[in-house]
Amino acid sequence: MSIAQNTETTAKLRCISCGATPDSAGQDFRCTACGDLLEFFFPGWTLDQLDGAKPRRHTDPKPSHHTDPAALKSLWLQRRSSRDALDQSGVWRFRELLPHIPNLEKHALTLHEGNTPLYHLPRCARATGVENLHAKHQGMNPTASFKDTGMTFAASSAHQGKFRWVACASTGNTSASMAAYAARGNMHSLVLIPDGKISWGKLSQSLDYGALTCQLRTDFDGCVQILNDLVRQKPVYLLNSVNPYRIEGQKTAAIELMEQLGWEPPDHIIVPGGNLGNSSAIGKALVEMRELKLISRLPKLSIIQAQGANPFYRCVHEFGGKKLEPMTADTLATAIRIGNPASWKKALRVLQVTSGQVEQVMEVEIAAAKAEIGADGIGCEPASAVTLAGLKKLRRSGFVKAGESVVLILTGHLLKDPDFTIKFHRGDLFTESRGATEATQAKYLQRAPIVLDANLAAVIAALDAAERNS
Ligand code: F0G
Repeated sequence: MSIAQNTETTAKLRCISCGATPDSAGQDFRCTACGDLLEFFFPGWTLDQLDGAKPRRHTDPKPSHHTDPAALKSLWLQRRSSRDALDQSGVWRFRELLPHIPNLEKHALTLHEGNTPLYHLPRCARATGVENLHAKHQGMNPTASFKDTGMTFAASSAHQGKFRWVACASTGNTSASMAAYAARGNMHSLVLIPDGKISWGKLSQSLDYGALTCQLRTDFDGCVQILNDLVRQKPVYLLNSVNPYRIEGQKTAAIELMEQLGWEPPDHIIVPGGNLGNSSAIGKALVEMRELKLISRLPKLSIIQAQGANPFYRCVHEFGGKKLEPMTADTLATAIRIGNPASWKKALRVLQVTSGQVEQVMEVEIAAAKAEIGADGIGCEPASAVTLAGLKKLRRSGFVKAGESVVLILTGHLLKDPDFTIKFHRGDLFTESRGATEATQAKYLQRAPIVLDANLAAVIAALDAAERNS
């Protein structure tokens, strides 16, 4: 069984290694010739063919990609005041830069994803010495993580392909997002997650959205293996980020970011690295935007991993990008507890073309950075906080300079993993074997709740003590 390529116009599938251009993808979304990943490319986007952007509605019978940069920018702005559900989505608003899905009006599954805020981080700016420091908060999506931008697009493709079942392996956010969009499209969803290694917030989402949720006695990488075998035997549609539709949808976070910055790219964008789909997507969008002259230069895209789950860091720093050695991953930032990232070659390309860096950060650095982002009134889940921890390292190494502009991509909401937060503030997060000594450095950020008798004097005493210490 094969999945038809949903493009009538210019987007085509291509293998990232051997360059084969198949008309359709198998259910595992891998090249049948060499087994590597597929990606979409847009042969029609040659810059000598600019023919002026004409507004393209999703109901147009024969859409085409028009690529005049000024006209596209104005069209996307106009859509912000439209009442059309697709125009209100921060993903579908940019549909000119995405492959076409036939009969979109019937198949688009949208929860008004995207449209996420870009916040200045004043305290983090002072702490890092980078005044122009912003966070694009992808945790402000409908299911509270960045996954929704790719999921709206890929789940719509599954719907268009009339799939009854969609499936993913996940550390929790992909599964929550997939289950929500499957529910919207009346599809069944199968979730494979590592038993005991995802946060309750994420698990509870997939239960409420109605997924068949299997907690496997293995890690994320073990779940991926089983899912890959499953999709070869059963007609289920794979919604992990090896699915190139996911990557296309996730590109829109970068497009929206550039729009928010008045199409003036920052010097640096910093993202967490797990399975490496997100960095690949953001990098792809940046390159395409530059090709289309929507932006005039590329920001440096840097990728940060947790030290206990750092196969990509090692790939770059130990093996010169020649190979990725899978590892058994371990980090309290469970979203990025991944030892064999599928999209490492795509991410490597992005790193090279944007001249970014890859860094690793310790558990205590992640916990401290998370509390610092929280203290700016924003908050995020642990995996997102690696970006600030990484920025501090990139400042120390001189790669990021004080006068430069930096955008951190925060991938998940603070409330995704309240256990981590509460343990950190109570001082219970780190054990003897896991960073308890270093954790003393982050003590000043801890704000444990105080249990008091129910009387006014006790509360006033607590208030006065806090005032003295502030
Ligand atoms: N941040 C969060 C909050 C995540 O959930 C993930 C990945 C990442 C960062 C890393 O992004 O994989 O594209 O490099 N979560 C996946 C999941 C793997 O199953 O939810 P990546």
